[in-house]
Amino acid sequence: MQILIVDDEKNIRTGLSKALSLEGYQTVIAADGQEGWEVVNNTEIDLIISDLKMPKMSGEELLKKVTSAYPTVPVIILTGHGTVESAVQAMQNGAFDFVTKPINLDRLTLLVKRALSSRELHQKHEALKREVDQLRKQNDYGAIIGKSVKMRKMMEAIKQVADTKASVLITGESGVGKELVADAVHAFSSRSDGPYVKVHCAALSESLLESELFGHEKGSFTGAVSQKKGRFELSDHGTIFLDEIGEINAQVQIKILRVLQEKNFERVGGEQTISIDTRIISATNRDLKSEIESGNFREDLFYRLNVVNIEVPPLRERKEDIPLLMNAFLEEFNEENGKEVHGFSPKAQSIMYRYTWPGNIRELRNCIESSLVMCKGDMIDIVDLPVHVRNGVTDDQVSIQLGLSLGEAEKEIIKATLAFCKGNKSKTAEVLGIGRKTLHRKIQEYQLDES
Ligand SMILES: Nc1ncnc2c1ncn2[C@@H]1O[C@H](COP(=O)(O)OP(=O)(O)OP(=O)(O)O)[C@@H](O)[C@H]1O
Ligand SMILES: [Mg+2]
Repeated sequence: MQILIVDDEKNIRTGLSKALSLEGYQTVIAADGQEGWEVVNNTEIDLIISDLKMPKMSGEELLKKVTSAYPTVPVIILTGHGTVESAVQAMQNGAFDFVTKPINLDRLTLLVKRALSSRELHQKHEALKREVDQLRKQNDYGAIIGKSVKMRKMMEAIKQVADTKASVLITGESGVGKELVADAVHAFSSRSDGPYVKVHCAALSESLLESELFGHEKGSFTGAVSQKKGRFELSDHGTIFLDEIGEINAQVQIKILRVLQEKNFERVGGEQTISIDTRIISATNRDLKSEIESGNFREDLFYRLNVVNIEVPPLRERKEDIPLLMNAFLEEFNEENGKEVHGFSPKAQSIMYRYTWPGNIRELRNCIESSLVMCKGDMIDIVDLPVHVRNGVTDDQVSIQLGLSLGEAEKEIIKATLAFCKGNKSKTAEVLGIGRKTLHRKIQEYQLDES
């Protein structure tokens, strides 16, 4: 712990320095505010003890500068007899405490101890807070993996709407990560300290859903043996996530509409009107517009839920994310299964890249889990992939990426054509428009024989 002592009286600054050194502290001395301020800017200082009246820069000015630039560094003021008023003023300006001259060393060392331990506590707290903040941010981002332009745009949209009260409707195919997006909207909002209640609307029977959402009074129906709070009530001052909103019936739709419009409702069988402050996020993989047309979904409710729409793109439209996701899931399942599979063979990788993933990220995740279980070596190969994935990629395509040399591209084309012709070399030569001898030579050159 380093203490800066600032006093224009030499005897005082050196005397204090000696006394505090004896107590085990490290000290630095300065003869006026100006000198002291330079020290503060260039050295790690944990506490300042400063006189008030000094040439060049006064203690008051030094205090002001320190409290604004280094608000966590405590300052103890030394003040001459009869000038307690200015000491009080210094306290108002943020000094930790003051000591009057002649200095009572016992009082000063006690103050020093107190000031330093409060600084230490403060520092510890700040460090923890930073760590938690960082973890939190990492988690918010970490949960949603993706670096494609589409995903980055989506993350921007999430952050932009998160801290508003606007209802958010999340749409997208099954397995694209709608629930993760809902989690992120809540996590990034200032409601993140409040409750986050998720309701899977399709999982509850129609009759149960209403009482689950809005609660019920005792005896309101058979089985209602006691009063119960609903999920809306539980989400007060927080967020409610209504997953699969397309599945709810007309009666519940009206009640939700009222919550959105008037922010209140009654429990099932109840008369008391309950007001709540909750943020509604909903999600669906149905096309609600056509549900409206066919009369299954209220248009007014749709517009209230869909103040902001976040559309999560399907995986096939952001293939750049596939390698990232593959590795993340591989790591996850390695850990879960105590395995050490290090990666994917180029062929397996190529198939996974070309497959269209109709079940999106959920399907990719499941695919990696099952491949890992099948895998006997230290790499996932084609044979480990689920059959539908392996067969779901038509071999009559060659993916040639920019960056390949002409020779490499030729190799890929010959390889793919061979596979397309099921290994029949005359046919392959015919398709490629080259002679059989040339084909043979190239097969040898590119070592395509075994495959
Ligand atoms: N960007 C992503 N990064 C990492 N994991 C993801 C990502 N998107 C989705 N997942 C994972 O994929 C699985 C499916 O995601 P989620 O349940 O959010 O999909 P969904 O869109 O709600 O699907 P459904 O419409 O079928 O309910 C989950 O295990 C989720 O953790
Ligand atoms: Mg879902």
